[in-house]
Amino acid sequence: MDERLISQERLSEEEVTGEEGIRPLALSHYIGQEQVKRNLHVFIEAAKMREESLDHVLLYGPPGLGKTTLATIIAHEMNVNLRTTSGPAIERPGDLATILTTLEPGDVLFVDEIHRLQRPVEEVLYPAMEDFCIDIVIGKGSGAKSVRLDLPPFTLVGATTRAGMLSAPLRDRFGVMSRLDFYKLDELAAIVARTGEYLSMEIDEEASYEVARRARGTPRIANRLLRRVRDFAQVNGAETVSFQEAEEALGHLQVDRLGLDHIDHRLLETLVEKFSGGPVGIDTMAAVVGEESETIEDVYEPYLLQIGFLQRTPRGRVVAPSAYEHFGWTRSEDTNG
Ligand SMILES: Nc1ncnc2c1ncn2[C@@H]1O[C@H](COP(=O)(O)OP(=O)(O)OP(=O)(O)O)[C@@H](O)[C@H]1O
Ligand SMILES: [Mg+2]
Repeated sequence: MDERLISQERLSEEEVTGEEGIRPLALSHYIGQEQVKRNLHVFIEAAKMREESLDHVLLYGPPGLGKTTLATIIAHEMNVNLRTTSGPAIERPGDLATILTTLEPGDVLFVDEIHRLQRPVEEVLYPAMEDFCIDIVIGKGSGAKSVRLDLPPFTLVGATTRAGMLSAPLRDRFGVMSRLDFYKLDELAAIVARTGEYLSMEIDEEASYEVARRARGTPRIANRLLRRVRDFAQVNGAETVSFQEAEEALGHLQVDRLGLDHIDHRLLETLVEKFSGGPVGIDTMAAVVGEESETIEDVYEPYLLQIGFLQRTPRGRVVAPSAYEHFGWTRSEDTNG
């Protein structure tokens, strides 16, 4: 099997650095997202009682909120293999057919970035998801014939940052759709404390909260900040990370009290200085900070909208009054319209 196409388990940053314990394996160890967890727990238990495969699950939401982690947990809770691939990795329908025909009964097939599947590949998925079969064409020209192949029952877990980009026929074939949201402060602080334990670092509660506060509601960012804070503490010879230690380290990392970094700053500042705060389109926002529009839409904009610093209007994005307050900017003559 082509290693580039699919792997039994994907290496994450944590695993590469020998810290795979950071990723929880049991649903009960997954912090936050209470509603999603409650529902998944019921669906998993019911499927197990009926000795069936779990219905297909679509996980969507901004990056770093735990979609891959949840897919791993689903496979673990169902006691089945996790097979991992991604939309862009599957170039031809035949690639997907190869993956599907080598699944074992009940397996979880995790397709990351599922919105990037090409249409002909996607079409192979429709009967596979619905009836556990695929049609393959054998031979060429007038002698070609279509053969139906049965597949073992399996669970497709799709992950995407863009549910809106999924085609309707694909979206409709998921029995479960779960949207992940930014985490609350308490939840992030708990994640920081948990990761701290795995990293064998002593971090006091106030310090955990300070890291959590600047993590943009995102576990991946919380864990990353924590590792860097650990670096500073280690070099300073501190045995326990205190609030002061954390605050100083975070200052060096140039993330402000709300978790905004220099790109957020530059973005908002340019919108205010050059465009009187908007409205502007996504492409303009991308151009002013030299990022891809997709990155702005997936990474920067959701958090700025969440904290109310940006507002969406029919004519584009507008910098909100609370952002002016936070940065101490004065508003030039009232934006007329
Ligand atoms: N609920 C949670 N509890 C504890 N740790 C979590 C939780 N959610 C995510 N994490 C941690 O955050 C990190 C990022 O999670 P994950 O890779 O699952 O995000 P993702 O949604 O798949 O991101 P992307 O969209 O970029 O693929 C992981 O290291 C994971 O351990
Ligand atoms: Mg992921």
